[in-house]
Amino acid sequence: MNKKQGFARAHTNIALLKYWGKVDSDLILPANDSISLTLDKFYTDTKVTFSDDYTSDRFYLNRHLMNPKKMQRVNRVLEAVKNEFGYQGYAKIESENHVPTSAGLASSASGMAALAGAAVDALGDVSDLNNLSRFARLGSGSASRSIFGGIVHWHRGYDHQSSFAEQIVAEDEIDLNMVTIVIDHRKKKIKSTLGMQHTAETSPFYPAWVEATNQAVPEMIAAVKENNFTKIGELAEHSASMMHATTLSSNPSFTYFAPETIQAIKLVEQLRNSGIECYYTIDAGPNVKVLCQSKNITRVRDFFKNYFAEEQLVVAKPGSGIKFTKN
Ligand code: PMV
Repeated sequence: MNKKQGFARAHTNIALLKYWGKVDSDLILPANDSISLTLDKFYTDTKVTFSDDYTSDRFYLNRHLMNPKKMQRVNRVLEAVKNEFGYQGYAKIESENHVPTSAGLASSASGMAALAGAAVDALGDVSDLNNLSRFARLGSGSASRSIFGGIVHWHRGYDHQSSFAEQIVAEDEIDLNMVTIVIDHRKKKIKSTLGMQHTAETSPFYPAWVEATNQAVPEMIAAVKENNFTKIGELAEHSASMMHATTLSSNPSFTYFAPETIQAIKLVEQLRNSGIECYYTIDAGPNVKVLCQSKNITRVRDFFKNYFAEEQLVVAKPGSGIKFTKN
C-alpha cells in the first residue's frame, strides 16, 4: 500500500482590520486587505493520509466522520493541493479542534490552515508559506492568515497567485492580548459567507467600507511595526464598527449584536475612560473581544468579572505560525 502522510498544527486568528466581502467567491478573493493577530491558545491539529487504496475522501472531525455534504470547503483545499502535486488518489483527513466552541472563536481559520499544511506536507514541500496561505484561503478566507504567527497581512490580490498572507511582525515582537467576552457560544445565525455577501450586494455603505479599510492598511502596518498599542486599538475598533455598520445598512438590515454586545461595548469605553487602555473588536457574532496590553490583562478580566461570569472570559496572547510537528 502506497501511503503518504502529513501533519500540521495551525492557530486561530482575530482580525484587527476585517475581511468582509468577496470579489470572487470561487477563489475567495476579498474586496479589501485585512490584518489579524494569531492567537496562542486555540488551534487545530490535522493529519492527512493519501493512499492509492482509498476509494473516496473521508474527513473525521474530533473522531467523527463528517457528512460528505459538509465537505465543500475541505474539498476545495484538497483538490487544489492534489492538482498542484499531480496526485490522483483519495485522502483520509483526521482533525482535532482545540478551539472549544465555548471560547466564542471560530475554528474555520485554524482548521483550513491546518488542512492545507498537512495536505502539502504529505505530498510536497511546506517551505513556501505563501503558497500554503493560498491553499488555506480556498477553504476559508481568514484561514489564509492562520499560516503565520504574530500580526499578519492578507493581500487581497487579483487572482489565486496574488492573494495570500504574510507576517508583519512575529508573536514575540508585539504586546497585544485579547480577552474574549463570550456572550453566546452557539453557532452563528447568519454565517459570515452569507452575511458578507448580502452586505456587499445591498448596503449603500459597502463601497465606503472597502475604501476606508484599504486606506487603513498602511496605517495599521506602521502602528504594528512601532508597537503603538493606542493606534492599533483605535484602528481595530473603528474597523469593527464600520463592518457592523454595513450589516445595519444592508437591506433587509441585520445585526450580529445581542443586547449584551452593546453592554460590553459601553463597558470597554467606561474602562478606557477610567484610564485602563483597551479597545473592542467584534466578528460575525455577538461576542466582544477586548484588546489590551500584557500589563492590563488582569485588570481587564477583573473589571469584566463584575458583569459577566468567569467562564465567559477567555484570555489569549499572540500565537505562532503553522507547525508540522505536535511540539
Ligand atoms: O473566513 P471567514 O469566511 O470565516 O470570514 C471571516 C469574517 C470575519 O471573521 C468577520 C472577519 C475576518 O477578517 O476574520
